[in-house]
Amino acid sequence: MGINFTWLGHSAFSLNINSHPILIDPFLQDNPLAPVKPDDVEAEIIFLSHAHGDHLGDTVAIAQRTGAKVVCNFEMTNWLQKNGVENVQPQQPGGGVDYDFVHAKWTVAHHSSSFPDGTYGGQPNGFILTADDKKIYFAGDTSLFSDMQLIGNEGIDVAFLPIGDLFTMGIDDSLRAIEFIKPKFVVPMHYNTWPPIVQDVASWAQRVNSNTSAQPIVLDPGGTHTIA
Ligand code: NI
Ligand code: MN
Repeated sequence: MGINFTWLGHSAFSLNINSHPILIDPFLQDNPLAPVKPDDVEAEIIFLSHAHGDHLGDTVAIAQRTGAKVVCNFEMTNWLQKNGVENVQPQQPGGGVDYDFVHAKWTVAHHSSSFPDGTYGGQPNGFILTADDKKIYFAGDTSLFSDMQLIGNEGIDVAFLPIGDLFTMGIDDSLRAIEFIKPKFVVPMHYNTWPPIVQDVASWAQRVNSNTSAQPIVLDPGGTHTIA
């Protein structure tokens, strides 16, 4: 029992919440870091931050095989229903939904969102998941923004932040984000997938330890951490 999470490379994670499997941004087939294939994962819920191919990933195939509910913004649920995924739940920033074993509250992210086929994908998002009195903030693809302080006011246990730079915040801004969010633990994502977003994650972790009150959790692809 309890909560653990496994990094699947890029911004893809599997979470296990009291034996309920969840996927976040399951980009696996074309993800050079992914340790598993789309057919190898289980999910009751798939949470999607936005519609870009490196986040939508293999959602349609996984949802069709597992019957998982796909939670994402309204425009994305429309696209998914037109593309053969019936079990969807839209959420928009500020809105919260109880999913039995986990509560999800949608947040803003500063980025863009379009499907690989060019369809408008609504506004990009992050979200706060609450289960077992633990709060997990998944920032999605975003720049630093000052309202991260409001998210920090909720008392975040674990924050998942992009550090790859170029398409999202980089290492310097991730440290400023940690100051705003004040999580107990912070997990880097959206780095090392391709050469333009390679980062020195050991240096990042050292700076998190030296300059913030958060504890870094650096996983190799396929690595799992249990939230104490
Ligand atoms: Ni993106
Ligand atoms: Mn991305």
